[in-house]
Amino acid sequence: MGAKEVVSVDIDQFSIKCVQQLWIRENKPKNWKIITGSVLDKNFIKSLGQFDVVYSWGVLHHTGDMYRAFGNVINLVKNNGLMFLAIYNKCHGKNAILAGSSRFWLRVKRKYNNSGNIGKKIIEFLYYVYFFLGFFILLKNPFKYIKNYGERGMSFYYDIIDWLGGYPYEFATGDELINYFSKKSFLTKKVKFTDNTGCNELLFLKK
Ligand SMILES: C[S@@+](CC[C@H](N)C(=O)[O-])C[C@H]1O[C@@H](n2cnc3c(N)ncnc32)[C@H](O)[C@@H]1O
Repeated sequence: MGAKEVVSVDIDQFSIKCVQQLWIRENKPKNWKIITGSVLDKNFIKSLGQFDVVYSWGVLHHTGDMYRAFGNVINLVKNNGLMFLAIYNKCHGKNAILAGSSRFWLRVKRKYNNSGNIGKKIIEFLYYVYFFLGFFILLKNPFKYIKNYGERGMSFYYDIIDWLGGYPYEFATGDELINYFSKKSFLTKKVKFTDNTGCNELLFLKK
């Protein structure tokens, strides 16, 4: 899209390999660097420099210390630069009746990750039961939903593993995020909030 330089960062070797595949698919551009490192490592993040655009979809809530990660990534953004974040919503109250509250899913994910193979299969099975029940209660066709699945590039089955296995897991309401980043001199330019357990999406401008 015309960027002079692109830097991709992840802590995990499988994720790095995935980005390398994208890099190969784009004919190995020389101005696209792929670096292994942790967003929680302040010195590493500082060593990357500063950027016009910082983009992070669904990452900082999986680090185990989301607010420390926020504190580090804000240093990556140049003044007048943009930062896009997608962060799991804190789902609670009446919105959690069908979707389950974020605190509930935190317990499920912890249990799933601490379980052996059989335990994991049982939890996956229970998730299916929950999924089908939800669809029947809402008088929707779950099979049609599964058939048309794949918007994110993952099969329905792997998306369930991704959800159950996605731990550490933190969350925040859209307002909590706006409040936090406004105190760090970030103006909110655009938001797309959810009321379920998905991600709130926010675009900020650094002043
Ligand atoms: C849900 S995935 C990101 C999804 C991806 N951005 C997308 O759009 O499909 C979460 C990623 O966060 C990475 N991650 C977790 N902790 C991290 C850390 N401390 N530093 C950097 N990356 C981290 C994981 O390795 C994983 O690749």
